[in-house]
Amino acid sequence: MKKVLIAFWSGTGNTEAMANSLAKGVGDAGGEAVLKPAASVTPALVKDAEALAFGCPAMGDEVLEESEMEPFIASLGSAELGNKPLGLFGSYDWGDGQWMRAWAERMKGQGAVVDGEGIITQLEPTEEALMKCYELGKRLAG
Ligand SMILES: Cc1cc2nc3c(=O)[nH]c(=O)nc-3n(C[C@H](O)[C@H](O)[C@H](O)COP(=O)(O)O)c2cc1C
Repeated sequence: MKKVLIAFWSGTGNTEAMANSLAKGVGDAGGEAVLKPAASVTPALVKDAEALAFGCPAMGDEVLEESEMEPFIASLGSAELGNKPLGLFGSYDWGDGQWMRAWAERMKGQGAVVDGEGIITQLEPTEEALMKCYELGKRLAG
């Protein structure tokens, strides 16, 4: 059974709803979803997983949440991220997705194999965004 780590930060639940949909996709494809707030995820857990999904809304001025998500992401390098797919997802409001474009580029620079462009949705996730998360979960578990 493929172990898929889903690590996320969510202040008001929008990104968490995406994470839950992703976890359902993993389970429906026969994988094991390990769904955790990023603050409780160690680099060893990331290294141990066979596929990854990280979620965070646009915060600050088009950046990751700074007290929990940013230190988690900064702690990772190619030893943890290499040789496995990584999907990114998150909610935003007034921007145009700049935080996600920058995040995807950054993860590639840290040695990750990023799946697509990242799934973004404005505020509460649309059905379409939830379905994309579900499909990503299935793909990561497959
Ligand atoms: C402190 C703060 C900063 C934010 N900065 C941005 C931003 O730079 N760009 C943007 O599009 N949305 C921004 N937002 C909006 C959030 O990304 C949006 O409300 C999102 O749905 C929150 O997701 P969550 O429910 O998973 O916490 C910000 C929200 C807060 C509270």
